[in-house]
Amino acid sequence: MREPDAAAALPQDQEPFAVAQALIESRQNISPRHLVEPGPSKEQLDAMLSLAASAPDHGQLTPWRFVLVPTEQRHRLAEVFAASLVDRDPGATEAQVADAREKAHRAPLLLVAIASLGSREPDTPALERMVSMGAAIQNLLLGAHAMGFGTGLTSGRAMTSPHLRRLCGLDDGEVAVCCVNVGTVAKRKVASRVRPAATEILSVLGPESRPGGA
Ligand SMILES: Cc1cc2nc3c(=O)[nH]c(=O)nc-3n(C[C@H](O)[C@H](O)[C@H](O)COP(=O)(O)O)c2cc1C
Repeated sequence: MREPDAAAALPQDQEPFAVAQALIESRQNISPRHLVEPGPSKEQLDAMLSLAASAPDHGQLTPWRFVLVPTEQRHRLAEVFAASLVDRDPGATEAQVADAREKAHRAPLLLVAIASLGSREPDTPALERMVSMGAAIQNLLLGAHAMGFGTGLTSGRAMTSPHLRRLCGLDDGEVAVCCVNVGTVAKRKVASRVRPAATEILSVLGPESRPGGA
């Protein structure tokens, strides 16, 4: 366990909201094929993980973890991607299987994000644990972005394959959610996705209508 950093108060010399807004709004998903070396150092990865660990966590279960797949082990992930494709589609062509394998070798840093949704004490609902997982991932993405790296999430049907479960040593209650890819951006989208406006994501609860009332 890690004690909260007493110095982690918001910076006094900058407008915190402006900093947060610039950071959050400038993050964009980068395809792993556009993420190149250098990736984060060990110290940078540790710092990113400590941001993940600051996610809201009802019941303090830490209902998630990450598995780092280092470069020298990527061939094992590649075999998992290939095997899960062949399981789904025994008629997959050699080129399709090679493409599945190649996906494991793209970004300099690859983490598999894993959520713990099985029986735990306290029994925080699985939905809330997934919210915590999402917040942990987002904290990590924003930390990497603040360090100047690009990030991209990848998932797909291989996430639920028994091959990936074995590779990552998943318990019965655990699920692999996605891969978190981090590296130096070689190419980015010119424009970010158009994000929904506040009016599209907010409704206001009005007064209760009285039965028979106007
Ligand atoms: C759990 C999760 C898994 C994702 N998996 C993929 C994926 O496999 N392929 C993909 O193109 N986008 C995937 N995305 C979406 C991108 O990460 C990204 O959010 C989306 O393209 C919108 O771009 P933006 O983040 O720049 O707004 C995933 C998102 C989440 C939350």
